[in-house]
Amino acid sequence: MKVNGIPTRTIRPLADALAVEIIDQTALPHDYRWLRLASLRDAAHAICSMQVRGAPLIGVSAAYGVALAMVQGDDDATLLAACETLAATRPTAVNLRWALTRMRKRLLPLARSARVDAAWQEAASIADEDVEQCRQIGCHGLRLLRSATSTRRPLQIMTHCNAGWLATVDHGTALAPVYAAFDEGIDVHVWVSETRPRNQGLLTAWELAQHGVPHTLIADNAAGLLLRRGDIDAVIVGADRIAANGDVANKIGTYLKALAARASGVPFYVAAPRSTIDFACPSGETIPIEERAADELRVVHGRDRAGQRGQLRQLAADEAVVNPAFDVTPASLVSTLISERGCCPASDQGLRRLYGEELHA
Ligand code: MRU
Repeated sequence: MKVNGIPTRTIRPLADALAVEIIDQTALPHDYRWLRLASLRDAAHAICSMQVRGAPLIGVSAAYGVALAMVQGDDDATLLAACETLAATRPTAVNLRWALTRMRKRLLPLARSARVDAAWQEAASIADEDVEQCRQIGCHGLRLLRSATSTRRPLQIMTHCNAGWLATVDHGTALAPVYAAFDEGIDVHVWVSETRPRNQGLLTAWELAQHGVPHTLIADNAAGLLLRRGDIDAVIVGADRIAANGDVANKIGTYLKALAARASGVPFYVAAPRSTIDFACPSGETIPIEERAADELRVVHGRDRAGQRGQLRQLAADEAVVNPAFDVTPASLVSTLISERGCCPASDQGLRRLYGEELHA
């Protein structure tokens, strides 16, 4: 995707192989700035604090975190401790564990002297594969969008959170079909829900604006009205973990959109790559739901009239708050899953049809 007209990925290793750079997503949409991560600690902090976020990007960042740890020490204990530290940063997006398992399997059998180079190469492969998979999700999703298209123009898409370019290395998951449609000349408009409390919808609005895609921000609570009165042709969201039966964990509020979409007869699509599917997890009930700090609800961040970044406390520090970061949408509410391999029903059979040969290998 382009930022200020320049093709850009969300994460990039530096030429000296001693650090990576990321876009600091906590500074967006006000400031576009790059942050240097030079240690395992930096990488773990970036994931925990959501300087990098979005399931696929968390996985890639963790892989680079392992590479950074290997620069600091290439022994088994360092490798295993790095994987443990990174795995503990965020619990719901399975892409994180998927990437760490892959790094560990690749590096552990190697001689210590070969590990640093191999770690950088493996992390780069994971990043490249993510780009290609998201591109393919875009192609498969585009076919769905063409068929979901009513005669009305523009095509009205609703999304939730940020499952775009910023949440991956490039293209995005839920937004990849939208970008593909826009680039093909389809007249498309995106309804972007704010996604309290972290407001990832603001990131979606920012990246859609960078690409020139028409969009409108709504409060989360407006989604039901828009769906009910027939303003939306399709809802597309991403996922942080898809269980073997097709249940989908995604950003808190996704479930409400799925319910409203079903009640309004609007298709509800979920787009995600292989690294988001957890075949070891039988159903959504066993997906761990991240509980985040209460202050994410009590304190809002932004800019004041003078343009200075700042915080505003809207609730007293002792106000009781619960802040689950994800919810689970049952497979029965998902119209279709879109992956890099194609589209399938959100079900055990559907997923096995796409990935069966890998499961039996
Ligand atoms: O808490 P976040 O911002 O990391 O959550 C992100 C989401 O829930 C996205 O919808 C999901 O990761 C899909 S990413 C392409």
